[in-house]
Amino acid sequence: MYALSLLVTAGVVVAAPSYKPGWPSVTNIQVGPRPFWLVDQMEDSPLKAELAACSEKPIHHAPFFSISHRGGPLEFPEHSREGLYAGARMGAGVLECDVAFTSDRQLVCRHSQCDLHTTTDILLRPELAAKCTTPFQAATAESDATAKCCTSDITHDEFLSLCAKMDSSNPDATTPEEYQYGGPDWRTTAYDNCATPVDHKTYIKITDSLGLQFTPELKTPEVEMPFQGNYTQEMYAQQLIDEYKEACINPKRVWPQSFLEDDILYWIKAEPRFGKQAVYLDERVDTEEGYEVAVASMDRLSKQGVRIMAPPIFALLNTSAEGEIVPSAYAKAANRAGLDIITWSLERSGPLKEAAETGEYYISTIADAITGDGDMYRIVDALARKVGVKAMFSDWPATVTYYANCLGLN
Ligand SMILES: *[C@@H]1O[C@H](CO)[C@@H](O)[C@H](O)[C@H]1NC(C)=O
Ligand SMILES: *[C@@H]1O[C@H](CO)[C@@H](O)[C@H](O)[C@H]1NC(C)=O
Repeated sequence: MYALSLLVTAGVVVAAPSYKPGWPSVTNIQVGPRPFWLVDQMEDSPLKAELAACSEKPIHHAPFFSISHRGGPLEFPEHSREGLYAGARMGAGVLECDVAFTSDRQLVCRHSQCDLHTTTDILLRPELAAKCTTPFQAATAESDATAKCCTSDITHDEFLSLCAKMDSSNPDATTPEEYQYGGPDWRTTAYDNCATPVDHKTYIKITDSLGLQFTPELKTPEVEMPFQGNYTQEMYAQQLIDEYKEACINPKRVWPQSFLEDDILYWIKAEPRFGKQAVYLDERVDTEEGYEVAVASMDRLSKQGVRIMAPPIFALLNTSAEGEIVPSAYAKAANRAGLDIITWSLERSGPLKEAAETGEYYISTIADAITGDGDMYRIVDALARKVGVKAMFSDWPATVTYYANCLGLN
């Protein structure tokens, strides 16, 4: 009876919905309770009223504005199959894969080339742990526990045999088991049950099957290039683009990112259809001098064909004397030069009151304007309406999807 895949309902025979293992479609978009809780936390304001009035409006994918940063790493192991689907379910229109290479030069999704010791169970796999650049070293009275395991230490098949886990480690660990989870405690381990690592080609298949857009990031190598004597940075940058061409993906759906200006300029020259959508991740802003250099570079970059700048959130915002969140010098300079802006990453700071008090990176320039989680949508709104960002990376895409739906942004 069950094997027939037929349901008999009130005498009418209907075909059971087909379940396609591997590539399910995601159309029933859910933002869950968090956006509503964030609105509830807000002090009364026109923005709160505007967002609250959307509470029963149907939710759809935000075709571009909501970018899933590494999946949904507030709760799901980053760069896992499960995280990608969580990001899609939360209405992200763009899914991210940070790209790193393995010892056999295959591209896989990992935030950093050398974070396997904190984002996978590699240290619990003795045969693979032995290949780590720096094997596990227990904490001592003088020093924290350490390890350094890189995608380039192992093969593609070995990488896919790992469990992806929440990015976390315990500096006091004396065994690999103790090293696995050390917070922060505002992230959950509720979904930390051997998540599935993905390679870049699988990420392309998943994202394509969902009808969403792609933002692969070419991670800066942590090994000397050329790797193995003949794998150059340009070959690596080209290989990333080639995997979209092989999969017949329209370049209009692909937003390749890099922190390295040379990668961006390489794509503009060698692969102009992809290069014109390249996203320049700008960490020059991390120092005061670098910030000035970045602000002064906008016209030059525009002339070189760069169209999209992507600095961290703090670099786009400033606090006015009245305690308002306002655009920074960087935001004004990028807008003046006609460059589009994307920013990263919302929902990465933890509870905002504590983040403001500790001068946390992403909100460091607006700490004085922040009193708690009710300010989350003040940040989003300042970025969207005052700075004019085209899209936003978030560790919990639902938060941005809700805002984009409410305002009719795409
Ligand atoms: C690159 O170097 C490896 C050895 O590290 C060698 O096996 C391979 O044939 C070389 N490939 C090319 C294209 O030169
Ligand atoms: C922030 O605002 C202050 C006060 O208006 C101004 O002096 C400063 O240059 C601004 N900083 C940035 C980075 O925009």
